[in-house]
Amino acid sequence: MIELKTKEDIEGIRKSGALLSSLFKMLDKNIKEGMSTYDVDKICYEFIKDNHAIASCLGYCGYPNATCISVNDTVIHGIPSRKNILKDGDLVSVDITLDLDGYVSDSTHTYEIGNVSKEVHLLNEVTRKALYNAIDAASVKGARLYDIARAVESTVRPYHYGIVEDYCGHGVGFSIHEDPLVFNYVNTRYSNKKLREGLVIAIEPMINMGDKRIKVLDDGWTVKTVDASVACHWEHTVAITEDGLEIMT
Ligand code: MF3
Ligand code: CO
Ligand code: CO
Repeated sequence: MIELKTKEDIEGIRKSGALLSSLFKMLDKNIKEGMSTYDVDKICYEFIKDNHAIASCLGYCGYPNATCISVNDTVIHGIPSRKNILKDGDLVSVDITLDLDGYVSDSTHTYEIGNVSKEVHLLNEVTRKALYNAIDAASVKGARLYDIARAVESTVRPYHYGIVEDYCGHGVGFSIHEDPLVFNYVNTRYSNKKLREGLVIAIEPMINMGDKRIKVLDDGWTVKTVDASVACHWEHTVAITEDGLEIMT
């Protein structure tokens, strides 16, 4: 069931999203070669606590950390580790969900560490573009869920990348994962709902440089590409308000 948000709820999610956006500004300046993914998680967790928010992922279905940090062929849900040291040429996505005063926002940025290859840089640019094209498509009055999917597909198709189908975006705002599912490809098994005022969703294309297939490691979380190709992920929480779409994060 989709829980539409009131204006008051959206104001709460706006504050939560603004805090998450400022966390990424801090991370933009601080994420560096030589840090472990545990170090990155730690500075994010400290920021969340210092700002009186809650790291929603910590303990979610038993997840052990505040953030998901996914390097190179890890697509999503990379578990922070002291052994995983960021090195020149790595592509690293940091996915953070936080709860401020009961309102949840969810966003992912992907960072290039030092100098990445041309191919990896292009993957990052195209994936981010897919997110913004999907947001533009969702901004059109009367837009529907499939418009988001079509925007991701048409952005990515010229590059022959793999669009991950096993995970998707979602409703958000009161908790991490709410209805509806927001696919990055047209999935006709799910209805093409109209985006109505009060809808708050996380849009999050997950794109592999190679094949779309993924596998989950034995830790039960880490999602990697089957062909070991590099993957990328960008995510924003957006709200449909009476004035149109607004990016919350
Ligand atoms: N932030 C993730 C998402 O975009 C959710 C991660 S759940 C966790 O949907 F438990 F893995 F952290
Ligand atoms: Co997320
Ligand atoms: Co999400």
